[in-house]
Amino acid sequence: MTKDGPISFAVMLGSLRKASFNGIVARSLQGLAPDGVTIRMLGSVGALPIYDADIQADGFPAEVTAMADAVRAADGVILVSPEYNYSIPGGLKNAIDWLSRLPNQPFAGKPVALQTASMSPLGGVRCQYHLRQALVFLDARILNKPEVIIGAVHTKVDAAADTLTDETTRGFIKAQLEAFSAYARRHHG
Ligand SMILES: Cc1cc2nc3c(=O)[nH]c(=O)nc-3n(C[C@H](O)[C@H](O)[C@H](O)COP(=O)(O)O)c2cc1C
Repeated sequence: MTKDGPISFAVMLGSLRKASFNGIVARSLQGLAPDGVTIRMLGSVGALPIYDADIQADGFPAEVTAMADAVRAADGVILVSPEYNYSIPGGLKNAIDWLSRLPNQPFAGKPVALQTASMSPLGGVRCQYHLRQALVFLDARILNKPEVIIGAVHTKVDAAADTLTDETTRGFIKAQLEAFSAYARRHHG
């Protein structure tokens, strides 16, 4: 099914720290989005308890069901994250693990785009490949290209102004959001 008209994306942020570079990138997305696209931040992945099947047996925590509802309501999800030890930060993986256990699993058929940022020149790209691997099992529809991999991110932001300043990076992100909007409209459930 395709969808015309306005669409909305939800952003899941993989970093918890207040001064997160990935947070700056995430908060810049609305300003780089095409017309007709609304981008909202999901609640912090840090609000979820560590996954425990015993907690699940007592009932999914409200933070989990709220995040799942927001993912289901969105036309696509953008994961914005650092790379930890060549992989997915634990808090983000934990959120994915919680959502994966729900009935009417929220990532099934959901368009997903990936963005990573790091102070290293590699921009956290290894996290993206581990996210792709996990999201295959969840049956998400992951945008292949354009990729957004932001190396040396500390040189590309004005932290005090909470702004992504690097024009080349802003251009990459605009191109991805443009492609992702078309992709999400084409792959609308
Ligand atoms: C536990 C841990 C592991 C890390 N591993 C990597 C890594 O594998 N690759 C990398 O580029 N940066 C790594 N870093 C550095 C992060 O990219 C850096 O702290 C970055 O600023 C975190 O993103 P944020 O600014 O959005 O919080 C690691 C940092 C932490 C705390």
